[in-house]
Amino acid sequence: MREATAIAHPNVALIKYWGKRDSAANLPAVGSLSIGLGALSTRTTVRFEPGAAADTVVLNGNELPAENSKVTLCLDMLRQIAGVDAGAVVTSANDFPTGAGLASSASGYAALVTAGAAALDLDLSSQQLSAIARTGSGSASRSLFGGFVLLRNDGDDTTCAPVLAPEEWPLAVVVAVTSDEPKAVSSRYGMEQSRLTSPYYRQWVDGHDADLEAGLRCVMERDFAGLAAVAEHSCLKMHAVMMATRPPLLYWSAATMACLDAVRALRGEGEEVFFTVDAGPQVKAVCTAAAIDRVAGTLQSVPGVLRVIVSHLGDGARLTDDHD
Ligand code: PMV
Repeated sequence: MREATAIAHPNVALIKYWGKRDSAANLPAVGSLSIGLGALSTRTTVRFEPGAAADTVVLNGNELPAENSKVTLCLDMLRQIAGVDAGAVVTSANDFPTGAGLASSASGYAALVTAGAAALDLDLSSQQLSAIARTGSGSASRSLFGGFVLLRNDGDDTTCAPVLAPEEWPLAVVVAVTSDEPKAVSSRYGMEQSRLTSPYYRQWVDGHDADLEAGLRCVMERDFAGLAAVAEHSCLKMHAVMMATRPPLLYWSAATMACLDAVRALRGEGEEVFFTVDAGPQVKAVCTAAAIDRVAGTLQSVPGVLRVIVSHLGDGARLTDDHD
């Protein structure tokens, strides 16, 4: 038994997922379509220690409580396949804010299962690793793959696969960071509250396939204007579901709204850019290479924006020999 280190990138959904159809199996209620953020990374080392009764998890230098069960849940699935019962020491670090709507859980669980499987000498496919990562976080399934990634509901399961490599449509993402604080309400809890209380939840689920197919078609045809329209629609519809949840899930700040206005104004002036926002106050502006400088400069000057991060599209999770 040995240790292994993996790198994974967070991803941002252009066609969003919100809600579960099976909480225990962490099966999403709807599919999703995402792009990886290559400029942001999680690096995770997993070392199995024969004789260790429990897992130890150190995230960004801080040991997490022992009952961090989703990490153990993913490791248990790997241990079961390998026929091993040793506890693991997991050391993970993000080079971006954790738990603040930048999908650190997506890159985190993708890196965890990639390193964990290698440390156990398991030869699993990306699709198998993606299914295991899903039990940690729904969006983590997508971070196993690079570029544009489609997750579909498929019977009692999900399938997840890349649909375009980063270089096949080299879009960029300008992230406007408006807060470094962890979000107040986790996605997992928030989704369940939306399912139980939001009057728009059923419509969200019922209308979702049409958005997913439209988004996929725009990606395959490199139709930026079409993708902008359906991606902003999916984002705003998800936030309408969230806002109408009881108690409300209001992830936006004044700076979030100001960024949305700025992106819409830029598009009105002919720039190829659209926005998307997840369960946090950060705004991700997706744009063509030609628009990067103007989008980054404009968002940087929006009041309340702490900084902008410009990202190319990321590759999938992978092993690395570099342990720094
Ligand atoms: O990966 P989870 O289960 O924490 O949920 C992510 C949900 C959103 O980021 C809001 C949307 C998405 O599809 O990534």
